[in-house]
Amino acid sequence: MKTRTPLVMANWKQHGSEAALTDWLTSVSAIDLPEICRVLCVPLPYLAKLRQQRAELQSKVQAGAQLVSAFRGGAYTGEVSAAMLSEFQVAYSLIGHSERRQWFDETASARRGQLSALWQEGITPVLCVGETALEHQQGQTCEVLMRQLAEVLDGQATAGPLVLAYEPVFAIGSGKPLSAQSAQQMHQQLRLMLKRWYSAADCQRIRILYGGSVNNQNAGEYLRQDDIDGVLVGSGSLQAGAFNALCHAVVHAVTPLVPA
Ligand code: PGA
Repeated sequence: MKTRTPLVMANWKQHGSEAALTDWLTSVSAIDLPEICRVLCVPLPYLAKLRQQRAELQSKVQAGAQLVSAFRGGAYTGEVSAAMLSEFQVAYSLIGHSERRQWFDETASARRGQLSALWQEGITPVLCVGETALEHQQGQTCEVLMRQLAEVLDGQATAGPLVLAYEPVFAIGSGKPLSAQSAQQMHQQLRLMLKRWYSAADCQRIRILYGGSVNNQNAGEYLRQDDIDGVLVGSGSLQAGAFNALCHAVVHAVTPLVPA
């Protein structure tokens, strides 16, 4: 039995439209799944529509962002602050997604600033970490993960609420997910690594998600692992029907069988 409430995060990346959002949220909100927490990370322009639709539908799906500025405000053209996100009831924001590392050259110091900006606004950061295929082959995974955690968590004034997302880069969008057993081993390691910044009790509370080619067929298997507390889902989250099936699979995996 899981003590941490499973978290299923949909990451739409640069996909979607207002019409798609309305249809998706209507369909996903119609299903009541109190056993899990569901979050939708939309592109920033859709946050207003998401707030409005959530209210109208009394939706249990929470709002998420895919990026946030490291700055609190000022002359930073194009940036969106954590305070602005919180106006739209954003509860979670991704930080350090491998696509931001790869295509936008986000630095460790930017990620550190983003984390503290989110904490100041009471938004839970979802820090994404993961090794490349080469690092994986060379057996450097633990070293890479520790570095990715340390460069963001070291030097923070206090350690605030956190979700981790372990996403091996080669598993993202490739249709080649890491096996649930291998992911479990890394999640166990990550939970141990967190002891550098968090108390033992907090380490037990922090949710660690797996991401990378998760779909409604394999999601349940991840949630059956002790240290996998949810999933971060890209392409498998775009269609409401497939996402609902994925959520049902997660609920099924974490619900103990009731004897007849
Ligand atoms: P994917 O993306 O599910 O399409 O592999 C996951 C992610 O990038 O968060």
